[in-house]
Amino acid sequence: MEDIDSNQVLSSSSEPSLSVSESLVPTRKPKDAGVKTVSFDGLLNEPLLLQEDLKEGCGGRLWPAGMLLAKYMLRHHSNLPGESIVELGAGGGLVGLAIARGCLVSPQSPIYITDQEPMLPLMENNIRLNNLSSIVMATALNWGEPLPSGIPSQPTIVLAADCVYFEPAFPLLISTLQKLLSPESVCYFCFKRRRRADFRFLKLAKKVFDIDEIRHDPDVEASRRENLFLYLIRLKKVGHHSKAGSNAGG
Ligand SMILES: C[S@@+](CC[C@H](N)C(=O)[O-])C[C@H]1O[C@@H](n2cnc3c(N)ncnc32)[C@H](O)[C@@H]1O
Repeated sequence: MEDIDSNQVLSSSSEPSLSVSESLVPTRKPKDAGVKTVSFDGLLNEPLLLQEDLKEGCGGRLWPAGMLLAKYMLRHHSNLPGESIVELGAGGGLVGLAIARGCLVSPQSPIYITDQEPMLPLMENNIRLNNLSSIVMATALNWGEPLPSGIPSQPTIVLAADCVYFEPAFPLLISTLQKLLSPESVCYFCFKRRRRADFRFLKLAKKVFDIDEIRHDPDVEASRRENLFLYLIRLKKVGHHSKAGSNAGG
C-alpha cells in the first residue's frame, strides 16, 4: 500500500460526518482510530458502528465509493436471501456490513468480507461492534492469488468499492474477478476516478467482462460529478472470450 497514488482528491459525502479529505496518500504514521456511526442517509434503521484505523493502510477508513455502493445496494437490492456474497478490498467492511444490517440475507449464506491479511483485525472488530458475527465472515484474500478455501468458490454477488487506484494491481484484481465470477454471478463495482490511468482498468477489464454502467439512481447519477462511477460486471458470454486465453494477467 506504500506505492499508491498520492493525488489529493476532495469530495463530499452526503453524510456530514464523512466529509473528509479523499487523499489516498499512503499513511506511514498511525492515525487516531475512531468509531463512526453510519446510517446511509437513514436507509438503516439501526446505524452501523464502523471503526476507522489507518495504521494498516488506506482501507482503514470509509471511502465515498463504498458509501455509494452500500446505499445503492440498500435501495435497490435489499432482498438477497440465498445469495452468496463476497466483497473484495472491503477495508473495514463498510459495504458487506451495510448489506448484512439492512438487506434480507439468510444466515445459511454468510457475507464474506475480504481484504489483505493486515486488515483482518479491523474487519473482525467491525463485525463484533455490530453483532453481525452470525452472518458476516472476514477472510484474507489477496488479488491475483489462489482463492482462500473458506469463501464460496463462485458467489452469486461480488462487491468491490474503491479498489481501482494502483495500476500494478489492475491485472491482479481482474484475475480474481475472473476466478470468482460464474456466468450467473454479478459484480457491483464502484470506483472513484482519481487520474486518467484509472480508466485503463476498465479498458483492460472490458476484454474479459461485459461491463455496464449503472445510472438509474439519482444518488449514483449525482456522484458522477465527483468522478464516482458504478458498474455491473459480468463474465462475457461463452463464445466471446476464453478464460485461459485472456491476457488480463494474474
Ligand atoms: C481505498 S480502500 C477501499 C475500502 C472499502 N472498500 C471502502 O470503499 O471504504 C481499497 C482496499 O483495497 C485493498 N487492497 C488493495 N490491494 C489489494 C490486494 N492486492 N488484494 C486484496 N485487497 C487489496 C486495500 O487493503 C484496501 O482495503
